[in-house]
Amino acid sequence: MKNIDWKSLTFGYVKTNYNVRCYYRDGKWGTLEISSSEDIPMHIAATCLHYGQAAFEGLKAYRGKDNKVRLFRWEENWKRLQLSAETVLMQPVPRDIFEQACRLVVQLNQEFIPPYGTGGSLYLRPLLVGSGARVGVHPADEYLFAIFAVPVGPYFKEGFKPVKMQIVKDYDRAAPLGTGHAKVGGNYAASLRAGERAHDEGFSVTLFADAKTKQFIDEAGPANFFGIRNNTYITPDSHSILQSITNMSLRQIAEELGLKVERRQVRIDELDTFEEVGACGTAAVISPVGSIQDRETGILFQYSKNGEAGEWSKKLYNYLVGVQYGEIPDKFGWCTELPCE
Ligand code: PLP
Ligand code: COI
Repeated sequence: MKNIDWKSLTFGYVKTNYNVRCYYRDGKWGTLEISSSEDIPMHIAATCLHYGQAAFEGLKAYRGKDNKVRLFRWEENWKRLQLSAETVLMQPVPRDIFEQACRLVVQLNQEFIPPYGTGGSLYLRPLLVGSGARVGVHPADEYLFAIFAVPVGPYFKEGFKPVKMQIVKDYDRAAPLGTGHAKVGGNYAASLRAGERAHDEGFSVTLFADAKTKQFIDEAGPANFFGIRNNTYITPDSHSILQSITNMSLRQIAEELGLKVERRQVRIDELDTFEEVGACGTAAVISPVGSIQDRETGILFQYSKNGEAGEWSKKLYNYLVGVQYGEIPDKFGWCTELPCE
């Protein structure tokens, strides 16, 4: 086990032992390589550098109460990487290469998996990029698939304490028929200006309105949105948001806990009817939202009065992390146990 102050980990880069890589060349995927270099040699005309042929994923391995290491729903991340690949015309990664790469990168970096009880996890960042050269706007004929791993703590400095959210209407993250449903780099580039401005204005996270009408909630910069009202878990349905695996899991947990679940368009003016609001994602887990301010109108919606997460958010959070850390039976079969010491 590495000598790291595990409890002080944030969501930042830490150098670990190895990453794994695989190239698609001459019409076929090669073998998985292990590398200790943090650099990727890249053709200056690679399509990822010019034309945004770049997608990524994010998933976590957890060291459990029983000291076993569990990877959460890796197959869903693989499916979503397929979708991202199709969306920007990249070569999809075969399932077995994705699985082997996840297993290998965890095993090779197991001394960086935070101990149980510290709240940390090992974050895997798979990426798929067009590495072949093009000057005209066309898809590459070579691709690089790689995964690196970093030990992480909470995404928001608040941890599981309510964050301040800002509604953005003067920038769009994704066009209605664009790439918002895929995990491609361009969506994040498009969210940067609004995100940095929100930080400068004292908010932790942005909430994007739908690009077409600005009447509906799309999602947060790095996470999906949910609201709870009347024993109902409500989350937006939109073509321009990422289909969050955490949200998918929370919808099942919500039903398990006795909540009704609604996945539908959510109007911004419904915000004052919610009893609890949260942002959810692999990095964000559940980040309870204490208040939301509409930047355009100045209207403030307040959720947390005591600086604590709401009761349902706590229950959802405890169930989700309970399964991830092996404290609660994995009745949905979400975790893959990995052979680590
Ligand atoms: N929405 C965006 C824009 C994201 O970047 C993420 C993170 O992956 C999510 C939602 C949450 O998705 P997941 O729960 O699969 O991590
Ligand atoms: C994740 O939750 O895995 C993300 O990708 C969110 C963010 C760090 C981009």
